[in-house]
Amino acid sequence: MSEPPVRRQVRAAFDKAAGSYDAAATVQREVCRHLDALARRRPCATPHRILDAGCGTGFGLPFLRGRFPASEVLALDFAPAMLQRLPPGLALALGGDMEHLPLANASVDAVWSSLALQWCHPGRALAEATRVLRPGGQAWLATLGPATLWELREAFAGLDDAEHVLGFHDLTAWTADATQVGLAIIATEQFATPATAPNLRELLRDIKAIGAHNVGSGRRRAPLGKAAWQILEARYETHRRADGWLPATYDVILLHLEKPL
Ligand SMILES: C[S@@+](CC[C@H](N)C(=O)[O-])C[C@H]1O[C@@H](n2cnc3c(N)ncnc32)[C@H](O)[C@@H]1O
Repeated sequence: MSEPPVRRQVRAAFDKAAGSYDAAATVQREVCRHLDALARRRPCATPHRILDAGCGTGFGLPFLRGRFPASEVLALDFAPAMLQRLPPGLALALGGDMEHLPLANASVDAVWSSLALQWCHPGRALAEATRVLRPGGQAWLATLGPATLWELREAFAGLDDAEHVLGFHDLTAWTADATQVGLAIIATEQFATPATAPNLRELLRDIKAIGAHNVGSGRRRAPLGKAAWQILEARYETHRRADGWLPATYDVILLHLEKPL
């Protein structure tokens, strides 16, 4: 099957970002900690096999290995350069798409996915997670809500006709989609956390370094002119915090789901 253009663009952006990802992914580390805490709130039997879907460079693996040292972990990503950076010995690397998982029905006991689902079609990715989970299996998922990077969205408004920030599904839509594919909702959580940088250039550089840039509309956009950039900077300055940092909000949604027996 040929890859849709936007998907190809997202995959290429993550492939290119693999080398810079770890240094810039502060929020991503924090989200893994929160997802692990949510997952631990409800004890479960040791899974035989766990899938880390959209594993990136493997931030989730120490949490999964820490909790389930005896389980087999499959680390799946569609960006080969991300898979090449997985820490050795923690998981089996698997190239593949979360919307078309290269796994048999009911072949995993748990699915972990942190900050990858927002790049997927929600219904298709959840349906695939459900298909590969065995009945009784758990899904621990972190994704981003609509308030993500709202400061950037507002600052760019009217400056050009490109879409600079992805459209994000809200919590209600995620739980509706999960229910639709037959998953039970065990727990949900939503919180806002900021990435920070001393100035807008560095804030944007960090977003680019984690691969999350320039993929909103699927179109290539021209660089902003000098006048537009000055307007953008001036607008963003209104968000400078008392401690001197410029924030970019991540609206984090956590879902603990279960495939009923
Ligand atoms: C923001 S990174 C998160 C990586 C890791 N889970 C973490 O917590 O740091 C998102 C990852 O999802 C992967 N990804 C996005 N869409 C995907 C898809 N449809 N199939 C497989 N991987 C995907 C990207 O290549 C990237 O490595």
